[in-house]
Amino acid sequence: MTDDLRGRALEALTTARTRTATLTSCVDDDELTTQHSPLMSPLVWDLAHIGNQEEQWLLRTVGGRDALRPEIDSIYDAFEHPRALRPTLPLLAPAEARIYASDVRGRVLDILERMPLEGSPLVDAGFAFGMIAQHEQQHDETMLITHQLRKGPAALTAPEPPADGDGSLPREVLVPGGPFTMGTSTEPWALDNERPAHERLVPAYYIDTVPVTCGAYQAFIEDGGYTERRWWADEGWDQIRQHGIGAPLFWRSEGGVWLRRRFGRVEEVPPDEPVLHVSWYEADAYARWAGRRLPTEAEWEKAARHDPASGRVRRYPWGDEDPTPTHANLGQRHLRPAAAGSYPGGASPLGVRQLIGDVWEWTSSDFLAYPGFAAFPYREYSEVFFGSEHKVLRGGSFAVDPVACRGTFRNWDLPVRRQIFSGFRTARSADVHAGAQA
Ligand code: AVJ
Ligand code: FE
Repeated sequence: MTDDLRGRALEALTTARTRTATLTSCVDDDELTTQHSPLMSPLVWDLAHIGNQEEQWLLRTVGGRDALRPEIDSIYDAFEHPRALRPTLPLLAPAEARIYASDVRGRVLDILERMPLEGSPLVDAGFAFGMIAQHEQQHDETMLITHQLRKGPAALTAPEPPADGDGSLPREVLVPGGPFTMGTSTEPWALDNERPAHERLVPAYYIDTVPVTCGAYQAFIEDGGYTERRWWADEGWDQIRQHGIGAPLFWRSEGGVWLRRRFGRVEEVPPDEPVLHVSWYEADAYARWAGRRLPTEAEWEKAARHDPASGRVRRYPWGDEDPTPTHANLGQRHLRPAAAGSYPGGASPLGVRQLIGDVWEWTSSDFLAYPGFAAFPYREYSEVFFGSEHKVLRGGSFAVDPVACRGTFRNWDLPVRRQIFSGFRTARSADVHAGAQA
């Protein structure tokens, strides 16, 4: 049992490092140290920050070893230095950063090999190792966002996702009202904000079978969606006016055709692909225009996990097995979402598709603590972000590794953000007038 966990931890750490290497070896040292956008760190900061978090948690705290490079802790503390100012820090040069991260890793694998994975909440079931693998993968997604923002010729390539989008699916499904169990107390590597499991009463609602597509979003644009005040929340209206926003980020219209830039290549916007790079405000405005609304976070999770036949919750829409390539578009295997209606193998019991993978889905909910929340192992992972400033995103994108994606996983960001791999689906309440619960 514990050998199995050790193997899982080793595999998760190794997979993350392979991806980190891909993302940081496909551009030259100049590009690694340049800031491609004030919203992002230079890639070389992410690289050494990954190593530094691993040093602090696995080497020092779990392993009880002496600090390797205590003098750089402050440079790689995300709270001390905003992203815009990170290029001005005395960062480790690319070669040094690589050696540092691999030195830390060598020592960590030695610790992982001997350490009993039980005896404290931090090491039980290999939690700290899983947490650090998830941390690295989250920065691998962040680095992929930096690659998308980077100007210049393409540096990354990947095969196309499967072209099996089913266009004949019903538009929405009805999720019956009633309680379900939200969050988890049993998933070994779930992070603090996913805990504890608790009951939520969710009245009946309809939810889109697939995420909103680029084609559907174009209809909103063409109907004057960005010029009609009534669709927009106040701050959203201010944002699109102030920045002259009239389409998703990376889109432009040329001779009546919508084009987009994607990882250094310009292409026509594919109408059947889930829309990407929209802010919460854009998602919210689209939903209002469509006569609908964003799902709440609880509605999203109930659609993804609740099995009406058994009354139980699943780890994923398709069941309890870990994601495979037939379930979902995850892990940067492809550099784009798959067409809406893809991945029949990943459908929920009610037939909802692509809840996991493809695009992060904005929900209407603020990022708040669940009842009984306890910060673990540090307040700065989740607790300091709780409140009405951040909105919750669910389900993961094509850029997220399976280790950092589950039915309970919660992501959050500011509602103005659109460089992230964000899309959405819409919902509506059932029986609003009847007032009765199914
Ligand atoms: C959970 C994606 C919002 O990137 O800010 C990385 C993850 N936390 N290092 C982020 C995280 C610390 C976090 N998000
Ligand atoms: Fe981090």
